[in-house]
Amino acid sequence: MEQEAIEIQEISSKEDSKRKRKVAKEEKKEITIYDLPGVGAATAEKLMAVGFTDLMSIAVASPAELVETTGMGDAVAKKLIAIARSSLEMGFESGEELLRRRERVIRIQTGSKALDALLGGGFETGAIVECFGEFGSGKTQIGHALAVNCQSVDKDAVAVYIDTENTFRPERIMQIAKGAGLDEEQVLKNIKVARAYNSDHQMLLAEKIEDLIKKQGLNVKLIVVDSLTAHFRAEFIGRGTLADRQQKLNKHMHILMKLADMYNLSVYVTNQVMAKPDMFFGDPTQAIGGHIVAHASTFRIYLRKGKKGTRVAKLIDAPNMPEGECSFYVDETGIKDTE
Ligand code: GTP
Ligand code: MG
Repeated sequence: MEQEAIEIQEISSKEDSKRKRKVAKEEKKEITIYDLPGVGAATAEKLMAVGFTDLMSIAVASPAELVETTGMGDAVAKKLIAIARSSLEMGFESGEELLRRRERVIRIQTGSKALDALLGGGFETGAIVECFGEFGSGKTQIGHALAVNCQSVDKDAVAVYIDTENTFRPERIMQIAKGAGLDEEQVLKNIKVARAYNSDHQMLLAEKIEDLIKKQGLNVKLIVVDSLTAHFRAEFIGRGTLADRQQKLNKHMHILMKLADMYNLSVYVTNQVMAKPDMFFGDPTQAIGGHIVAHASTFRIYLRKGKKGTRVAKLIDAPNMPEGECSFYVDETGIKDTE
């Protein structure tokens, strides 16, 4: 395999991007909810316990939500939200600043140039890419390939893999690493895998990633959540609980987005499809998680099985790329172009 295909495209020089990363981290020192005037330790603990861990989460909450989850009075809740809103710098950035941020973007390659090109050169940092498609369409294989190839971003780049379906295979990682000409042992060492046993566990694991970065100093460049929706789908059955499910999923996506944004890392999530029996034309499948997941994903790719064992990827939603389609295939060494 060509060395080129597994190299991560870097837009600015390495030194430059390291320096920028450092500056960005310093800029983002957050005010915590403990710093809110009028919030005592007990209230702060209560808020933290139910997931209001930062000012933003309070600022965008509704009073009813705070009342319901913490048992505080309506007036207190309203006041808290108002304080959180006024203490937040609501982060308007100039177009120029945003452009500079875009320069920090790194792209992780899949092994298929066509698939990378569909996304403008690979899976971007600072973004969430969602792949949805039927069983065996290649979602998990793409996750494995990215976990290997992300390690060409930096020598110490780490991939975090949240495995909800017990489909992570170290043997597969070694095969792909070997195909990419990387040190198999080293690649395995730099992938941190956690098995998530239910949706709460899955959410907790995502929250703990910040510790890996802050406390353990790991240079996390990729988070894979495979599958994003399987536990949620299995646990919340029936319409009555759909709103709860969507609220939790929303929170989960929000945490992932924040990590992507704050630490300039790439998030890859997989999603199943369900049959849409009332659909007579077009593709009778639809992604799980509805508009919550669709909305929170920066890029969405629909995967399906093509002719002669190929896979077809269709870009559905993308901020600055045209919709498009490409094919690739999966072999022993990973994700490959069809030609
Ligand atoms: P679900 O998780 O069941 O929804 O499917 P998925 O979309 O995650 O599918 P996955 O990525 O696991 O793709 C499985 C397919 O990849 C298999 O059916 C094979 O076609 C292909 N595959 C996996 N490993 C290998 C391999 O070592 N060699 C070859 N040739 N193909 C492989
Ligand atoms: Mg899978």
